[in-house]
Amino acid sequence: MDKFVIDGGRPLAGTVRASGAKNAVLPAMAACLLCQGRSVLTNVPNVMDVRTMRRLLLRLGCKVEFSGSAMAIEVPARLRCEAEYEIVKQMRASYYVLGPLLARFGAAKVSLPGGCAIGARPIDLHLKGMEALGAKVEIVHGYVRARARKLAGQRVQLAGTKGVSVGATINTMMAACLAAGTTVIESAALEPEVVSTAELLAAMGARIRGAGTPVITIEGVTELAPAEHRMIPDRIEAGSLMAAAAVSGGCVTIEDCRPDHLAAAIDVLRRAGVRIAAGDEMVTVEARRRLRPMEVTVSPYPGFPTDLQPQFMALACLSSGISAVTETIFENRFMHVPELQRLGADVKLEGSTAVVKGVPKLTGAQVMGSDLRASAALVIAGLAAEGRTEVGRIYHLDRGYERWERKLKKLGAKVKRVHEKMAT
Ligand code: EPZ
Repeated sequence: MDKFVIDGGRPLAGTVRASGAKNAVLPAMAACLLCQGRSVLTNVPNVMDVRTMRRLLLRLGCKVEFSGSAMAIEVPARLRCEAEYEIVKQMRASYYVLGPLLARFGAAKVSLPGGCAIGARPIDLHLKGMEALGAKVEIVHGYVRARARKLAGQRVQLAGTKGVSVGATINTMMAACLAAGTTVIESAALEPEVVSTAELLAAMGARIRGAGTPVITIEGVTELAPAEHRMIPDRIEAGSLMAAAAVSGGCVTIEDCRPDHLAAAIDVLRRAGVRIAAGDEMVTVEARRRLRPMEVTVSPYPGFPTDLQPQFMALACLSSGISAVTETIFENRFMHVPELQRLGADVKLEGSTAVVKGVPKLTGAQVMGSDLRASAALVIAGLAAEGRTEVGRIYHLDRGYERWERKLKKLGAKVKRVHEKMAT
Protein backbone atom coordinates (compact mmCIF):
# COMPACT_ATOMS: atom_id res chain seq x y z
CA MET A 1 0.00 0.00 0.00
CA ASP A 2 1.42 3.37 -1.01
CA LYS A 3 1.01 6.67 0.72
CA PHE A 4 1.87 10.25 -0.21
CA VAL A 5 4.13 12.22 2.09
CA ILE A 6 3.62 15.92 1.52
CA ASP A 7 5.59 18.81 3.01
CA GLY A 8 3.03 21.55 2.58
CA GLY A 9 3.00 25.29 2.42
CA ARG A 10 4.71 25.82 -0.95
CA PRO A 11 2.85 27.82 -3.61
CA LEU A 12 2.51 25.78 -6.81
CA ALA A 13 3.84 27.39 -9.98
CA GLY A 14 4.31 26.35 -13.59
CA THR A 15 2.53 24.46 -16.33
CA VAL A 16 0.97 21.02 -16.28
CA ARG A 17 -1.11 18.97 -18.69
CA ALA A 18 -4.47 17.39 -17.92
CA SER A 19 -4.73 13.73 -18.93
CA GLY A 20 -7.57 12.16 -20.90
CA ALA A 21 -10.85 11.70 -19.05
CA LYS A 22 -11.12 8.44 -17.12
CA ASN A 23 -14.92 8.68 -17.06
CA ALA A 24 -15.03 9.03 -20.84
CA VAL A 25 -12.53 6.23 -21.52
CA LEU A 26 -14.37 3.58 -19.50
CA PRO A 27 -17.60 3.71 -21.58
CA ALA A 28 -15.55 4.16 -24.77
CA MET A 29 -13.73 0.89 -24.09
CA ALA A 30 -17.08 -0.83 -23.58
CA ALA A 31 -18.51 0.76 -26.74
CA CYS A 32 -15.77 -0.94 -28.78
CA LEU A 33 -17.48 -4.27 -27.97
CA LEU A 34 -20.36 -3.29 -30.25
CA CYS A 35 -18.52 -4.49 -33.35
CA GLN A 36 -15.87 -6.91 -34.48
CA GLY A 37 -12.45 -5.47 -35.35
CA ARG A 38 -9.77 -3.13 -34.09
CA SER A 39 -10.72 0.24 -32.62
CA VAL A 40 -8.17 2.72 -31.35
CA LEU A 41 -8.60 5.17 -28.49
CA THR A 42 -6.06 7.93 -27.97
CA ASN A 43 -5.32 10.29 -25.07
CA VAL A 44 -6.11 7.42 -22.70
CA PRO A 45 -4.89 7.98 -19.12
CA ASN A 46 -2.88 5.17 -17.58
CA VAL A 47 -4.87 4.94 -14.35
CA MET A 48 -5.98 1.94 -12.35
CA ASP A 49 -9.65 2.02 -13.44
CA VAL A 50 -8.60 1.96 -17.08
CA ARG A 51 -6.30 -0.99 -16.37
CA THR A 52 -9.19 -2.76 -14.59
CA MET A 53 -11.45 -2.21 -17.61
CA ARG A 54 -8.67 -3.53 -19.82
CA ARG A 55 -8.56 -6.68 -17.69
CA LEU A 56 -12.30 -7.07 -18.08
CA LEU A 57 -12.08 -6.78 -21.88
CA LEU A 58 -9.28 -9.36 -21.90
CA ARG A 59 -11.49 -11.72 -19.85
CA LEU A 60 -14.29 -11.25 -22.36
CA GLY A 61 -11.91 -12.37 -25.10
CA CYS A 62 -10.57 -9.11 -26.61
CA LYS A 63 -6.94 -8.25 -27.26
CA VAL A 64 -5.99 -4.90 -25.78
CA GLU A 65 -2.66 -3.20 -26.48
CA PHE A 66 -2.01 -0.19 -24.29
CA SER A 67 1.10 1.75 -25.09
CA GLY A 68 1.79 5.36 -24.13
CA SER A 69 -1.65 6.94 -24.25
CA ALA A 70 -2.97 4.88 -27.18
CA MET A 71 -5.11 1.82 -26.69
CA ALA A 72 -5.94 -0.60 -29.50
CA ILE A 73 -8.86 -2.91 -28.78
CA GLU A 74 -9.24 -5.93 -31.05
CA VAL A 75 -12.71 -7.45 -30.65
CA PRO A 76 -13.26 -10.97 -32.02
CA ALA A 77 -16.43 -12.35 -33.63
CA ARG A 78 -17.46 -14.10 -30.44
CA LEU A 79 -17.07 -12.97 -26.84
CA ARG A 80 -17.65 -14.37 -23.41
CA CYS A 81 -20.67 -12.34 -22.29
CA GLU A 82 -19.98 -12.26 -18.56
CA ALA A 83 -18.50 -9.67 -16.21
CA GLU A 84 -17.57 -11.44 -13.00
CA TYR A 85 -17.92 -10.18 -9.44
CA GLU A 86 -14.13 -10.32 -9.06
CA ILE A 87 -13.76 -7.37 -11.46
CA VAL A 88 -17.07 -5.55 -11.00
CA LYS A 89 -16.55 -5.25 -7.23
CA GLN A 90 -13.30 -3.41 -7.94
CA MET A 91 -14.88 -1.02 -10.38
CA ARG A 92 -18.58 -0.28 -10.78
CA ALA A 93 -18.13 1.13 -14.27
CA SER A 94 -17.69 -2.51 -15.40
CA TYR A 95 -21.49 -2.40 -15.85
CA TYR A 96 -20.84 -0.47 -19.07
CA VAL A 97 -20.34 -3.81 -20.84
CA LEU A 98 -24.01 -4.73 -20.20
CA GLY A 99 -25.55 -2.62 -22.99
CA PRO A 100 -23.01 -3.47 -25.72
CA LEU A 101 -22.94 -7.24 -24.99
CA LEU A 102 -26.72 -7.46 -24.82
CA ALA A 103 -27.17 -5.49 -28.04
CA ARG A 104 -24.60 -7.47 -30.01
CA PHE A 105 -25.02 -11.00 -28.66
CA GLY A 106 -28.55 -11.00 -27.21
CA ALA A 107 -27.40 -11.95 -23.72
CA ALA A 108 -25.21 -10.59 -20.95
CA LYS A 109 -24.44 -11.53 -17.38
CA VAL A 110 -22.96 -8.82 -15.20
CA SER A 111 -22.34 -9.00 -11.48
CA LEU A 112 -24.15 -6.50 -9.28
CA PRO A 113 -21.48 -4.12 -7.99
CA GLY A 114 -22.39 -4.17 -4.30
CA GLY A 115 -21.50 -1.43 -1.82
CA CYS A 116 -19.75 1.85 -2.50
CA ALA A 117 -18.05 4.33 -0.15
CA ILE A 118 -19.95 7.37 -1.45
CA GLY A 119 -23.54 6.10 -1.41
CA ALA A 120 -25.95 3.30 -2.30
CA ARG A 121 -25.61 3.73 -6.06
CA PRO A 122 -28.36 1.46 -7.38
CA ILE A 123 -28.41 0.40 -11.06
CA ASP A 124 -32.20 0.32 -11.53
CA LEU A 125 -32.06 2.95 -14.29
CA HIS A 126 -29.58 0.88 -16.30
CA LEU A 127 -31.97 -2.04 -16.05
CA LYS A 128 -34.93 0.17 -16.92
CA GLY A 129 -33.11 1.20 -20.10
CA MET A 130 -32.43 -2.41 -21.11
CA GLU A 131 -36.00 -3.49 -20.31
CA ALA A 132 -37.43 -0.61 -22.30
CA LEU A 133 -35.52 -1.94 -25.30
CA GLY A 134 -37.22 -5.31 -24.82
CA ALA A 135 -34.67 -7.21 -22.71
CA LYS A 136 -35.78 -9.67 -20.06
CA VAL A 137 -33.78 -8.84 -16.94
CA GLU A 138 -33.48 -10.93 -13.80
CA ILE A 139 -31.21 -10.88 -10.76
CA VAL A 140 -29.87 -14.32 -9.95
CA HIS A 141 -27.12 -15.19 -7.46
CA GLY A 142 -25.86 -11.60 -7.37
CA TYR A 143 -25.76 -11.27 -11.14
CA VAL A 144 -27.88 -9.31 -13.59
CA ARG A 145 -28.88 -11.59 -16.45
CA ALA A 146 -30.29 -9.81 -19.46
CA ARG A 147 -31.58 -11.48 -22.61
CA ALA A 148 -33.27 -10.35 -25.80
CA ARG A 149 -33.46 -11.99 -29.18
CA LYS A 150 -33.33 -8.54 -30.78
CA LEU A 151 -33.58 -5.21 -29.00
CA ALA A 152 -36.26 -2.85 -30.26
CA GLY A 153 -36.17 0.95 -30.08
CA GLN A 154 -38.48 2.63 -27.56
CA ARG A 155 -39.09 5.89 -25.77
CA VAL A 156 -37.53 5.72 -22.29
CA GLN A 157 -37.47 8.14 -19.36
CA LEU A 158 -34.21 7.85 -17.47
CA ALA A 159 -34.64 10.24 -14.54
CA GLY A 160 -34.47 8.64 -11.09
CA THR A 161 -35.14 10.01 -7.63
CA LYS A 162 -31.68 11.65 -7.66
CA GLY A 163 -32.17 13.10 -11.15
CA VAL A 164 -30.39 12.08 -14.32
CA SER A 165 -27.90 9.22 -14.56
CA VAL A 166 -24.69 9.47 -16.57
CA GLY A 167 -24.14 5.70 -16.55
CA ALA A 168 -27.71 4.70 -17.44
CA THR A 169 -27.83 7.27 -20.26
CA ILE A 170 -24.61 5.93 -21.77
CA ASN A 171 -25.49 2.25 -21.30
CA THR A 172 -28.93 2.68 -22.90
CA MET A 173 -27.50 4.79 -25.73
CA MET A 174 -24.90 2.12 -26.51
CA ALA A 175 -27.48 -0.68 -26.53
CA ALA A 176 -29.91 1.34 -28.65
CA CYS A 177 -27.34 1.70 -31.45
CA LEU A 178 -28.01 -1.90 -32.56
CA ALA A 179 -31.72 -2.01 -31.65
CA ALA A 180 -34.33 -2.18 -34.41
CA GLY A 181 -36.02 1.18 -34.94
CA THR A 182 -35.79 4.43 -33.02
CA THR A 183 -34.99 4.92 -29.35
CA VAL A 184 -35.67 8.21 -27.61
CA ILE A 185 -33.96 8.73 -24.26
CA GLU A 186 -35.71 11.40 -22.21
CA SER A 187 -34.13 13.05 -19.16
CA ALA A 188 -30.73 12.11 -20.53
CA ALA A 189 -27.62 13.25 -18.65
CA LEU A 190 -25.82 16.16 -20.33
CA GLU A 191 -22.27 15.38 -19.17
CA PRO A 192 -19.38 15.79 -21.65
CA GLU A 193 -18.65 12.06 -21.17
CA VAL A 194 -22.08 11.27 -22.71
CA VAL A 195 -21.24 13.48 -25.69
CA SER A 196 -17.78 11.92 -26.05
CA THR A 197 -19.29 8.42 -26.11
CA ALA A 198 -21.91 9.50 -28.66
CA GLU A 199 -19.12 10.88 -30.87
CA LEU A 200 -17.27 7.57 -30.76
CA LEU A 201 -20.48 5.67 -31.53
CA ALA A 202 -21.17 8.02 -34.46
CA ALA A 203 -17.64 7.38 -35.77
CA MET A 204 -18.51 3.65 -35.59
CA GLY A 205 -21.57 4.29 -37.77
CA ALA A 206 -24.28 4.84 -35.14
CA ARG A 207 -27.04 7.35 -35.86
CA ILE A 208 -27.42 9.54 -32.77
CA ARG A 209 -28.88 13.01 -32.37
CA GLY A 210 -29.14 15.21 -29.31
CA ALA A 211 -26.26 13.96 -27.12
CA GLY A 212 -25.54 16.77 -24.66
CA THR A 213 -29.26 17.69 -24.51
CA PRO A 214 -32.00 16.11 -22.35
CA VAL A 215 -33.40 14.16 -25.33
CA ILE A 216 -31.19 11.75 -27.27
CA THR A 217 -32.57 10.02 -30.36
CA ILE A 218 -30.90 6.90 -31.70
CA GLU A 219 -31.89 5.21 -34.93
CA GLY A 220 -30.71 1.64 -34.73
CA VAL A 221 -28.41 0.23 -37.42
CA THR A 222 -27.69 -3.44 -38.16
CA GLU A 223 -23.97 -3.23 -37.58
CA LEU A 224 -21.19 -0.89 -36.55
CA ALA A 225 -17.55 -0.72 -37.64
CA PRO A 226 -14.35 -0.10 -35.66
CA ALA A 227 -13.22 3.51 -35.30
CA GLU A 228 -10.52 5.74 -33.87
CA HIS A 229 -11.40 8.27 -31.17
CA ARG A 230 -9.49 10.81 -29.06
CA MET A 231 -10.60 11.06 -25.45
CA ILE A 232 -11.66 14.45 -24.07
CA PRO A 233 -9.49 15.99 -21.34
CA ASP A 234 -10.34 15.01 -17.78
CA ARG A 235 -12.38 17.92 -16.43
CA ILE A 236 -12.26 16.57 -12.89
CA GLU A 237 -8.49 16.23 -12.91
CA ALA A 238 -8.21 19.76 -14.34
CA GLY A 239 -10.61 21.07 -11.66
CA SER A 240 -8.60 19.28 -8.97
CA LEU A 241 -5.40 20.90 -10.26
CA MET A 242 -7.15 24.28 -10.21
CA ALA A 243 -8.10 23.70 -6.58
CA ALA A 244 -4.53 22.64 -5.76
CA ALA A 245 -3.13 25.80 -7.38
CA ALA A 246 -5.64 28.03 -5.58
CA VAL A 247 -5.20 26.46 -2.14
CA SER A 248 -1.44 26.78 -2.33
CA GLY A 249 -1.60 30.47 -3.22
CA GLY A 250 0.20 29.84 -6.48
CA CYS A 251 -0.07 30.40 -10.23
CA VAL A 252 -0.54 27.37 -12.46
CA THR A 253 -1.39 26.90 -16.13
CA ILE A 254 -3.23 23.73 -17.07
CA GLU A 255 -2.83 22.76 -20.70
CA ASP A 256 -4.91 20.35 -22.77
CA CYS A 257 -8.02 21.02 -20.75
CA ARG A 258 -11.49 22.25 -21.69
CA PRO A 259 -12.46 25.32 -19.60
CA ASP A 260 -15.93 25.17 -21.19
CA HIS A 261 -16.43 21.83 -19.37
CA LEU A 262 -15.47 23.53 -16.10
CA ALA A 263 -17.64 26.65 -16.19
CA ALA A 264 -19.36 26.01 -12.83
CA ALA A 265 -16.08 25.36 -11.00
CA ILE A 266 -14.43 28.39 -12.61
CA ASP A 267 -17.38 30.51 -11.51
CA VAL A 268 -16.99 29.38 -7.87
CA LEU A 269 -13.25 30.10 -7.96
CA ARG A 270 -13.70 33.56 -9.49
CA ARG A 271 -16.28 34.50 -6.86
CA ALA A 272 -13.82 33.37 -4.19
CA GLY A 273 -11.23 35.80 -5.58
CA VAL A 274 -9.12 33.49 -7.76
CA ARG A 275 -7.87 35.07 -10.98
CA ILE A 276 -8.57 32.86 -13.95
CA ALA A 277 -7.57 33.29 -17.57
CA ALA A 278 -9.25 30.72 -19.77
CA GLY A 279 -8.34 29.97 -23.39
CA ASP A 280 -9.74 27.32 -25.74
CA GLU A 281 -7.72 24.48 -24.31
CA MET A 282 -5.89 25.95 -21.35
CA VAL A 283 -6.55 27.77 -18.15
CA THR A 284 -4.33 29.79 -15.83
CA VAL A 285 -5.24 29.96 -12.15
CA GLU A 286 -3.68 32.52 -9.84
CA ALA A 287 -4.50 33.01 -6.17
CA ARG A 288 -2.21 35.30 -4.25
CA ARG A 289 -4.57 36.16 -1.40
CA ARG A 290 -6.71 34.27 1.07
CA LEU A 291 -9.91 33.19 -0.65
CA ARG A 292 -13.38 34.47 0.15
CA PRO A 293 -15.88 31.90 1.46
CA MET A 294 -17.92 30.01 -1.12
CA GLU A 295 -21.39 28.56 -1.71
CA VAL A 296 -21.15 25.28 -3.55
CA THR A 297 -24.19 23.19 -4.42
CA VAL A 298 -23.58 20.08 -6.43
CA SER A 299 -25.81 19.33 -9.40
CA PRO A 300 -25.60 17.37 -12.66
CA TYR A 301 -23.76 18.98 -15.60
CA PRO A 302 -23.58 21.87 -16.36
CA GLY A 303 -23.87 22.41 -12.59
CA PHE A 304 -21.06 22.02 -10.11
CA PRO A 305 -19.75 18.41 -10.31
CA THR A 306 -20.06 16.10 -7.32
CA ASP A 307 -16.64 14.77 -8.33
CA LEU A 308 -15.11 18.15 -7.35
CA GLN A 309 -17.07 18.64 -4.12
CA PRO A 310 -14.40 17.20 -1.75
CA GLN A 311 -11.54 19.10 -3.42
CA PHE A 312 -13.41 22.41 -3.22
CA MET A 313 -14.29 21.72 0.40
CA ALA A 314 -10.54 21.54 1.03
CA LEU A 315 -10.29 25.04 -0.46
CA ALA A 316 -13.17 26.33 1.64
CA CYS A 317 -11.37 25.13 4.79
CA LEU A 318 -8.82 27.94 4.36
CA SER A 319 -11.15 30.71 3.18
CA SER A 320 -11.76 33.89 5.16
CA GLY A 321 -15.30 33.10 6.37
CA ILE A 322 -18.12 30.57 6.45
CA SER A 323 -18.75 28.45 3.36
CA ALA A 324 -21.60 26.05 2.61
CA VAL A 325 -20.96 22.94 0.54
CA THR A 326 -24.09 20.98 -0.35
CA GLU A 327 -24.01 17.50 -1.85
CA THR A 328 -27.17 16.46 -3.70
CA ILE A 329 -26.14 13.40 -5.73
CA PHE A 330 -24.46 10.93 -3.35
CA GLU A 331 -25.76 10.59 0.21
CA ASN A 332 -22.48 9.58 1.78
CA ARG A 333 -19.95 11.75 0.00
CA PHE A 334 -18.59 13.40 3.15
CA MET A 335 -16.08 10.78 4.27
CA HIS A 336 -13.30 13.33 3.79
CA VAL A 337 -14.76 15.58 6.51
CA PRO A 338 -13.30 13.78 9.58
CA GLU A 339 -9.95 13.56 7.77
CA LEU A 340 -9.97 17.30 6.97
CA GLN A 341 -10.75 17.85 10.65
CA ARG A 342 -7.56 15.94 11.49
CA LEU A 343 -5.73 18.62 9.52
CA GLY A 344 -7.36 21.33 11.65
CA ALA A 345 -10.37 22.17 9.48
CA ASP A 346 -13.55 23.44 11.11
CA VAL A 347 -16.39 21.60 9.32
CA LYS A 348 -19.83 20.72 10.66
CA LEU A 349 -22.28 18.53 8.83
CA GLU A 350 -25.90 19.63 8.74
CA GLY A 351 -27.73 17.02 6.70
CA SER A 352 -26.49 17.23 3.15
CA THR A 353 -24.65 20.51 3.78
CA ALA A 354 -21.17 20.93 5.19
CA VAL A 355 -20.75 24.22 6.97
CA VAL A 356 -17.09 25.12 6.68
CA LYS A 357 -15.64 27.83 8.88
CA GLY A 358 -12.40 28.95 7.27
CA VAL A 359 -9.29 28.72 9.46
CA PRO A 360 -6.08 30.68 8.86
CA LYS A 361 -4.01 27.53 8.56
CA LEU A 362 -4.18 23.74 8.42
CA THR A 363 -1.55 21.64 10.14
CA GLY A 364 -0.06 18.45 8.70
CA ALA A 365 -1.26 15.08 10.02
CA GLN A 366 -1.69 11.46 9.02
CA VAL A 367 -4.94 11.03 7.10
CA MET A 368 -6.54 8.40 4.93
CA GLY A 369 -8.52 8.57 1.69
CA SER A 370 -11.81 6.66 1.55
CA ASP A 371 -12.44 7.03 -2.19
CA LEU A 372 -10.94 8.61 -5.26
CA ARG A 373 -12.06 12.24 -4.88
CA ALA A 374 -11.77 12.26 -1.08
CA SER A 375 -8.12 11.27 -1.53
CA ALA A 376 -7.60 14.11 -3.99
CA ALA A 377 -9.11 16.52 -1.46
CA LEU A 378 -6.70 15.34 1.24
CA VAL A 379 -3.71 15.72 -1.07
CA ILE A 380 -4.88 19.24 -1.91
CA ALA A 381 -5.34 20.11 1.76
CA GLY A 382 -1.92 18.60 2.51
CA LEU A 383 -0.30 20.89 -0.07
CA ALA A 384 -1.51 23.89 1.91
CA ALA A 385 -1.06 22.49 5.43
CA GLU A 386 1.85 23.57 7.56
CA GLY A 387 4.34 20.76 8.09
CA ARG A 388 4.06 17.13 6.98
CA THR A 389 0.88 15.38 5.84
CA GLU A 390 0.75 11.68 5.08
CA VAL A 391 -2.15 10.56 2.92
CA GLY A 392 -2.64 6.80 3.25
CA ARG A 393 -4.44 4.37 0.91
CA ILE A 394 -3.32 6.34 -2.09
CA TYR A 395 -4.51 3.48 -4.32
CA HIS A 396 -7.84 5.30 -4.30
CA LEU A 397 -6.17 8.29 -5.96
CA ASP A 398 -4.38 6.02 -8.43
CA ARG A 399 -7.76 4.85 -9.74
CA GLY A 400 -8.29 8.14 -11.52
CA TYR A 401 -5.28 10.47 -11.36
CA GLU A 402 -2.42 9.76 -13.71
CA ARG A 403 1.07 10.20 -12.23
CA TRP A 404 -0.20 12.85 -9.83
CA GLU A 405 2.87 13.04 -7.65
CA ARG A 406 4.96 13.73 -10.76
CA LYS A 407 2.58 16.43 -11.93
CA LEU A 408 2.53 18.09 -8.50
CA LYS A 409 6.31 17.85 -8.17
CA LYS A 410 6.69 19.52 -11.55
CA LEU A 411 4.70 22.42 -10.07
CA GLY A 412 7.09 22.67 -7.11
CA ALA A 413 5.21 20.59 -4.53
CA LYS A 414 7.20 18.54 -2.08
CA VAL A 415 5.43 15.22 -2.38
CA LYS A 416 6.73 11.70 -2.50
CA ARG A 417 5.20 8.27 -2.80
CA VAL A 418 6.22 5.88 -0.08
CA HIS A 419 5.51 2.18 -0.03
CA GLU A 420 3.90 1.30 3.28
CA LYS A 421 4.08 -2.20 4.71
CA MET A 422 0.69 -3.58 5.80
CA ALA A 423 0.44 -4.12 9.55
CA THR A 424 0.08 -7.82 10.36
C1 EPZ B 1 -20.68 8.74 -12.96
O1 EPZ B 1 -21.16 7.69 -12.11
C2 EPZ B 1 -19.21 8.89 -12.62
N1 EPZ B 1 -18.53 7.63 -12.84
C3 EPZ B 1 -19.05 9.34 -11.18
O2 EPZ B 1 -17.68 9.59 -10.96
C4 EPZ B 1 -19.85 10.63 -10.96
O3 EPZ B 1 -19.76 11.00 -9.61
C5 EPZ B 1 -21.30 10.43 -11.36
O4 EPZ B 1 -21.37 9.96 -12.74
C6 EPZ B 1 -22.13 11.69 -11.26
O5 EPZ B 1 -21.58 12.69 -12.07
C7 EPZ B 1 -18.18 7.26 -14.07
O6 EPZ B 1 -18.38 7.97 -15.03
C8 EPZ B 1 -17.45 5.97 -14.21
P1 EPZ B 1 -24.99 8.46 -12.05
P2 EPZ B 1 -22.56 7.05 -12.38
O7 EPZ B 1 -25.65 7.25 -12.61
O8 EPZ B 1 -22.83 7.03 -13.84
C9 EPZ B 1 -28.45 7.56 -8.90
C10 EPZ B 1 -15.62 9.42 -9.85
O9 EPZ B 1 -15.19 9.83 -8.74
N2 EPZ B 1 -28.75 6.38 -9.74
O10 EPZ B 1 -25.04 9.70 -12.87
O11 EPZ B 1 -22.61 5.78 -11.63
C11 EPZ B 1 -27.09 7.45 -8.23
O12 EPZ B 1 -27.16 6.68 -7.04
C12 EPZ B 1 -16.98 8.80 -9.97
O13 EPZ B 1 -14.96 9.49 -10.89
C13 EPZ B 1 -29.88 5.65 -9.50
O14 EPZ B 1 -30.67 5.96 -8.60
O15 EPZ B 1 -23.49 8.10 -11.68
C14 EPZ B 1 -26.75 8.89 -8.00
O16 EPZ B 1 -27.41 9.36 -6.86
C15 EPZ B 1 -17.65 8.60 -8.66
N3 EPZ B 1 -30.13 4.55 -10.28
C16 EPZ B 1 -27.38 9.59 -9.22
O17 EPZ B 1 -28.35 8.68 -9.74
C17 EPZ B 1 -29.29 4.18 -11.29
O18 EPZ B 1 -29.58 3.18 -11.97
C18 EPZ B 1 -26.37 9.89 -10.33
O19 EPZ B 1 -25.61 8.73 -10.61
C19 EPZ B 1 -28.16 4.95 -11.54
C20 EPZ B 1 -27.91 6.06 -10.75
